[in-house]
Amino acid sequence: MSSQLKEKEYTNEKLDKNLWKKLFSILWEHKKMVIMLLFFNILIAVNDMVFPLLNRSAINDFAINKGQNASLVTFCIIYIGMIAFKSFSLYSFFKYAGHVESDFGKNLRKKCFDHVQQLSFPYFDRTANGWIMARISSDCSRIAETLAWSFVDLAWGLFIIVGLTIIMLVINWQMALAVLVIVPILFMISLYFQKRILRAQRATRKANSLVTAGFSESINGAKTTKTLAVEQKNYEEFMEKTHSFKMHSLKAVYLNSIFQPIVFLLAALVIAMLMTIGGQEVLLGTIEFGTLSLFINYADLFFEPLKQIARIMSEMQVAQANAERVLSLIEEPVEITDREDVIEKYGTLLNPKVENYEKLCGDIDFNHVNFYYNENEPVLHDFDLHVKQGSMIALVGETGSGKSTIVNLLCRFYEPRQGEIWIDGHNIQDRSVGWLHSNIGYVLQTPSLFSGTIKDNIRFGKPEASDEEVIEVAKLIHAHDFIMKTEKGYDTQVGEGGDLLSTGEKQLISFARALLSDPRIVILDEATSSIDTESEKLIQNAIETLLKDRTSFVVAHRLSTIVEADQILVLDHGKIMEQGTHQELMAKKGMYYDLFTSQAISEKTQQMMHA
Ligand SMILES: Nc1ncnc2c1ncn2[C@@H]1O[C@H](COP(=O)(O)OP(=O)(O)OP(=O)(O)O)[C@@H](O)[C@H]1O
Ligand SMILES: [Mg+2]
Repeated sequence: MSSQLKEKEYTNEKLDKNLWKKLFSILWEHKKMVIMLLFFNILIAVNDMVFPLLNRSAINDFAINKGQNASLVTFCIIYIGMIAFKSFSLYSFFKYAGHVESDFGKNLRKKCFDHVQQLSFPYFDRTANGWIMARISSDCSRIAETLAWSFVDLAWGLFIIVGLTIIMLVINWQMALAVLVIVPILFMISLYFQKRILRAQRATRKANSLVTAGFSESINGAKTTKTLAVEQKNYEEFMEKTHSFKMHSLKAVYLNSIFQPIVFLLAALVIAMLMTIGGQEVLLGTIEFGTLSLFINYADLFFEPLKQIARIMSEMQVAQANAERVLSLIEEPVEITDREDVIEKYGTLLNPKVENYEKLCGDIDFNHVNFYYNENEPVLHDFDLHVKQGSMIALVGETGSGKSTIVNLLCRFYEPRQGEIWIDGHNIQDRSVGWLHSNIGYVLQTPSLFSGTIKDNIRFGKPEASDEEVIEVAKLIHAHDFIMKTEKGYDTQVGEGGDLLSTGEKQLISFARALLSDPRIVILDEATSSIDTESEKLIQNAIETLLKDRTSFVVAHRLSTIVEADQILVLDHGKIMEQGTHQELMAKKGMYYDLFTSQAISEKTQQMMHA
């Protein structure tokens, strides 16, 4: 699936100011934490700059001048005080960085999740599930981690560079220049290597995502792979991908292994210059030995942020790509949404004004509806249908004839390209999506359960329902008996997607769920797979209970269901070919008659074979 969907490339090399602005405005929602984090971060930088000064005083005042002009006790108190101060700053720094990381990550994830809940079917048609999951899980974590830790390192580095430049110039400008002169050289070299390292890292990530995609495809398709016996081919393809991943990551490592010693060499050069200039001054007596030692310490400290810039830049670039994808998800326009005035009256999906919801009776009109998924493949053309409340419509037709499309439009999962759908004499676009959905019960072709207990799954239809209500609907649907036979009854876990239950059982549970929500319109996309006669009967009864007194659309495959319908629509390529009750259509001896007789014969034969 993922390979079919075109994925936008997010490999912007330049800093995207607009994007960071948006990201920081989200970060700013946690401004108290962020300010505290920056504050303690700067305190740590101050600490880092003060300690070499204390060491200088130790050498000059006590080692050389034997404490003639200074008190050792005062010195010790200050030294211990500074250590305590630094310990506290470090503690607070880690605490706030952890908070910013987790709070910001949670906030970002919530924004994604809230938005994904509002997105409509067309979006999910063109976006792979895996893509959305990766955005919400790993991308959000990466962004939060980078902003909480790396970005703060950048602040620390900047503060150190500016602070040290000033202090060094004030103390001894000749030696300060010896340190500063190396900055542009290091900067140029850094730039040269960073560009290449970043490029190699980007290629590594790309190769890595190919490896991951290959992994998940072969795991998801394990059964197919095995039945087709294509393991060897899969293996070779996979090895090719991992090899390319290895080569790119080796290149990044190789570049870094050259870059680091060069930085080390430059640092050694600076220290050599300091020794030459400073050493002479010490011999001449113009400065004391402690000051030379101070500069050597400072040179080391000065290089620290410069060495880290490569790493931080690379992390920022990764975060930028992550952020681009996450923001593209958060900002994805919601295609099917209510008009302003409708929202005003009925609220949004997350904040509905239920008190303004009108009662839905269930008269439904499709008025000249045109629809297509892809512009050049029309699915419905000038579709017209009028349904009286409480009646049952069976949709019959070959695969691809547009049965699911009709019910998707009624559910407003998609909007008609032309024409209108009315319920109780009002265009559905004049009422909210929330109002519509709170009145519709949709049981899918492949019933989907969520991991949790049977009870949870039924209660999904009405979260505030009591246990008694849950059991009551299960009894009505005749699911109670099988549920009681499971290990823990209503508290039995259904497994991921309900995998621990049979298809028939899953269906019964989804019927109970739909019944609990007491919808005015029921939509049933019947499963094609034939099940044994006993479950068949059970499900047939359940369907009757569920559809009673409600307007219903049933995509019907079972003859028993179709015969009961008030209206049968025989569809072909999105057009209604025949319409009427079972008797009327049989009398006509047209398409329906042919379909019915051939199906009846095949079912008879099956029954005879089972007998
Ligand atoms: N999400 C989609 N994106 C693009 N085309 C689609 C989509 N869903 C359905 N189609 C196309 O629209 C047409 C009608 O499909 P629809 O799902 O309504 O058929 P159906 O009658 O429900 O078939 P089935 O009996 O197999 O469920 C088909 O040609 C199908 O390929
Ligand atoms: Mg269908």
